[in-house]
Amino acid sequence: MPIMETLDPVHARAFPPAPPAGAHEALRRFGPLPTPSLEWNAQVERETAHLYERVKSVVPTIEWPFFAPYVRAINALKKERNAVILAHNYQTPEIYNCVADFTGDSLQLAREATKVDADIIVQCGVHFMAETAKILNPDKTVLIPDLKAGCSLASSITGDDVRLLRQRFPGVPVVTYVNTSAEVKAESDICCTSSNALQVVESLGAERVIFLPDEYLAKYIASQTKVKIIAWKGHCEVHERFTGDELRRVREADPSVQIIAHPECPPDVIAVADYTGSTSGMIDWVRKRMPKRVVMVTECSMADNVHAELPDVEFVRPCNLCPHMKRITLPKILDSLLNMKEEVTIDPAIAAKARRAVERMVYLKS
Ligand code: 13P
Ligand code: SF4
Repeated sequence: MPIMETLDPVHARAFPPAPPAGAHEALRRFGPLPTPSLEWNAQVERETAHLYERVKSVVPTIEWPFFAPYVRAINALKKERNAVILAHNYQTPEIYNCVADFTGDSLQLAREATKVDADIIVQCGVHFMAETAKILNPDKTVLIPDLKAGCSLASSITGDDVRLLRQRFPGVPVVTYVNTSAEVKAESDICCTSSNALQVVESLGAERVIFLPDEYLAKYIASQTKVKIIAWKGHCEVHERFTGDELRRVREADPSVQIIAHPECPPDVIAVADYTGSTSGMIDWVRKRMPKRVVMVTECSMADNVHAELPDVEFVRPCNLCPHMKRITLPKILDSLLNMKEEVTIDPAIAAKARRAVERMVYLKS
């Protein structure tokens, strides 16, 4: 059914919040380490050859001598610091394939964060993902290589907005997409991701739910459930740029092409798609079906990562870059591990409330 109502953000918000006082606390606790050699030589080439094998179809040979010394240094530093790297599916191939310990969609990364057995988590993704890791691991040090790696959905709504919505719709449960700040999660009953949103909405047994902040994900879920959805006008700045028209043109040029889309896309895009799902849902779909040609209607790097794994699949690329995800680079990851930057901190009272909403999602029975 169509969504009941969509509410507007009051005004645009700035993101990210200023670094909290004591941002260099992690450096005091762990101490800095000296910068390792970043020279490209025969030994580095030998030691990283097995990693280059994984990305050779998407990383040109001429670029590897720049990446390899960083890859080698980061992998050595992870051991020295007892750190793990969690990387989202949108990270570039050299990060995703060569330094990450765990990769996945938002739900998989949140689940992985509950199992981490290390002192330090380096989140290669955006700020809300690092906050989610911190919410689930209050006693661990969580770092993000660039504190400015935000998200247009997360910056579309504040805790005050959620409190006002609760006043306007008393008793209606609030489901919040994980692409939100800890403060917004703290005001919510339960979180969801693109891979479990329908299950989460239906798990509440409510006639109506407030679903925040992605209007298009809300519309997609509303089309699949009898639960009445009250939505917010937040959009992903990357997925909202795709149009049904451009995809219809791709299909007209090759009727056999498969089109798979992320549910943050506008409804006219989803209407054209053969499959709609989370980033990992899309990857699994390609792994199982092995289409000859496919359009992944999502962030660009994901097609590179899947192509590195499945070189026989051809990717047609109308794709858009997420400027926030692209702030994470190998030099910044190295700096993060050497100088303990940037530590993600959350007010403990907010974190405790947010944890209830995140854990309720993570431990939801499927
Ligand atoms: P996934 O949970 O599907 O990985 O989506 C996260 C995201 O930010 C997509 O833009
Ligand atoms: Fe946020 Fe969109 Fe970037 Fe995902 S792709 S992190 S939703 S801005």
